Order: sequence, then structure tokens, then C-alpha cells
Amino acid sequence: MKKIAVIPGDGIGKEVVAEGCKLMDALGVSYQIFNYDADYWLQHKQGISDQQLEELRTFDAIYFGALGDPRLPKMEHGKDILLKMRFDLDLFANVRPIQLLDVNHSPLRPEIANNIDIVIVRENTEDLYRGLGGRFKAGQIDEVAIDERIHTRAGVRRIVEYAFEYAVKNNRQKVTLVDKHNAIPNGGQLWLSVFDEISKGYPNIVGEYQHVDVACAIMVAQPERFDVVVTSNLFGDILSDLGAGLVGGLGLLSSANVNGNGIGLFEPVHGSAPDIVGMERANPLAAFATLAMLFKHVGLLDECEQLLYAIKQSISQDITTPDLDGKHTTSQVGEYIISRML
Ligand code: NAD
Ligand code: IPM
Ligand code: MN
Repeated sequence: MKKIAVIPGDGIGKEVVAEGCKLMDALGVSYQIFNYDADYWLQHKQGISDQQLEELRTFDAIYFGALGDPRLPKMEHGKDILLKMRFDLDLFANVRPIQLLDVNHSPLRPEIANNIDIVIVRENTEDLYRGLGGRFKAGQIDEVAIDERIHTRAGVRRIVEYAFEYAVKNNRQKVTLVDKHNAIPNGGQLWLSVFDEISKGYPNIVGEYQHVDVACAIMVAQPERFDVVVTSNLFGDILSDLGAGLVGGLGLLSSANVNGNGIGLFEPVHGSAPDIVGMERANPLAAFATLAMLFKHVGLLDECEQLLYAIKQSISQDITTPDLDGKHTTSQVGEYIISRML
């Protein structure tokens, strides 16, 4: 039996993960809950300790909701909980599929929207997220703030290789590197040279490059030009929310943080949505799609397929929350999904 840890987090993270947990209960899948969230951080002034991380390491998968709490406006706990897991478990690949489930929920014309089927492979351990830099003379007129963008050849190599291998295993035709080497040349040249070298080893996969600014325009106007997209940490973060906007919003997108061996961290792309917390308006479908990715990771393949099918049914039957123009509550959507699975 695989070991599953659950970290609900803050805000609607708790609400949507609760629905996923009800489904695991109904299926007899066991899990252990860890409350690493804003309350925990405020109480202990720390997130996941090194020792607690060692405990998490004994699990096969972590099902995570979202962090974000108005009492911690600087997201101090984000670094100590979410980024800590991504970095210290070395989960270097953040895989974010952007698929159209129902053309009626896209703001694009149907003939364009119907072609959306993109997987963003986001580097997850380097770039501006590493916290290198500093701030001094804070608040003064001559204040200085520096955030350094770091890329290593080894780090770039493994994510680009991951993207090409992902393309092969998932029968995809093209990998596009998205970066910005015309304006940010140092890291840009590193990414380009690694990408060119690795793409030579995959003659059956088309390797392309786009600058991130034009990539945004292409994603909206000609999404069929993208298949697998490999990119750095921050650009991947931004492109995935752009993708969410194209297929029906953040209530639908799931992600996997993995490194190809062992533990994976699975989370919806959305945040804690403080504007709707406690209102039963949170769309649990992203968290269910996330659970489907987790099921696949731990070998529950039938459950994964059934869950993906149930998600499609919920949308086609209009058993949805207000973000998808539905009239149902978070738990009603959850109940529907569970009823389709049993
Ligand atoms: P957000 O994703 O929380 O919300 C953006 C908008 O989308 C809001 O209007 C929200 O109501 C809506 N939305 C998001 N998920 C939804 C869902 N499942 N159902 C219905 N509507 C949904 O992004 P934000 O407002 O920029 O951030 C809020 C907090 O979450 C911040 O503290 C931010 O740092 C944090 N955050 C955390 C994560 C994470 O833990 N992985 C991801 C993104 C943002
Ligand atoms: C995400 C979030 C996180 C990120 C934040 C909360 C640090 O936006 O998972 O997309 O930027 O990676
Ligand atoms: Mn994000």
C-alpha cells in the first residue's frame, strides 16, 4: 500500500482538499493529515522542520491544497512550507497540464479554444524563487532590492531532459523552450545551449524556441502551436495561470511536482482564494484533477481514469460552482464526483 500525506493548507485549500479526502475515504484509500499551514506557522514561527521533512520523505505522495492567509501578507510560510518541499525534496519538475474540458468555459472562440492541449513543464528549484539577493536601506529613498535569477547547467539539463522524455512517453510531437534570451542573455544562453544539445537526441520531436512575451500572445491566439512547453520557474508560474484563463479558470488546473523517482507533491495551480473562503463557492475540480494525478503516481490507474471521467461529467452536466456559472456548492460538486466513482 502506498503512503499518502495530506497537507490541506489555508483558505479554500482546506475546502477543496476536504472533498478529495472524502473521495479517498469512499474508495478506502488511506492517508495521513499534516496541518502545516498559516496557523501552524503563526504558532511555531516556523514551517516544516528538517526532521518533519524526513518524515514526509517516507511517503509516496503528498496531496496539498494551497497556502495564503491575510495574517501573513508576505507569505512568510510559503517559503518554509511549500517552497521548502519543492526545493528540499528536489522536486525539480512542475508539470501543469492545460487541457480544454468544455469549450463553453473558454473565453476564446470555439475554433481556437478546441485546439488547447498544452503541458507546461516548469523548472521548480532555481530562478528568482531561490531567494538569492538582498534588500538594504529599506524604506529609505535610496533603498536597494536585488532578486537574483539563478540557473545551473545541471538544473537546466535535467528539466529539459524531463520535458523531452515526457513528450516521448506521452506521445507528444513538440517541445518549445520559452525564455527571454534577447533581454536576459546570461541565463538565456545557458538554456538555449542546453536545449539545442538535448533536442538533437530526440530527432522525432520538434524542438522550438519562443520568447516569453510572444509566447503569451501565441497561447491566446494560436494555442495549437504549443504542445509541451519547458520553461524556467517564474515564467512557468505566469504561463500556467494564463493557461487557466483560457480553459475555464483556476478552479480547473492541477499540477504535479516530481523528480522521476519516488515522492511527488500534488497541488492545484490555484491559491487560497481569500475572496471566496468560507462561502462554499470554491471549485473542487482542480483539487480532484490533482488527486487524479496523484492516483496515477501511486499506481491507482483505474481510479485515476474514473476520476478524470467524473470531472468531465460534472462539467457536462453543469454540476459546477459559480466560477463555471453553476449553482452548486463545493460539497455538492464533491458529492456528485464521489457518486460517479462508486
Ligand atoms: P488565487 O488562485 O488564490 O485566486 C485568484 C482568483 O481565482 C480569485 O478570485 C479566486 O477566488 C479565484 N479562484 C482560485 N481558485 C478557485 C477555485 N478553486 N474556485 C473558484 N475560484 C477560484 O490567487 P491570488 O488571489 O493571487 O492569491 C491568494 C493567496 O494564495 C495569496 O496568498 C497567494 O500567495 C496564494 N497562492 C498560493 C498558491 C499555492 O499555495 N500553491 C498558489 C497561488 C497563490
Ligand atoms: C503556484 C504559486 C506559488 C508559486 C507561490 C504561492 C509561491 O503561485 O504554485 O503557482 O509561485 O510557485
Ligand atoms: Mn502560481
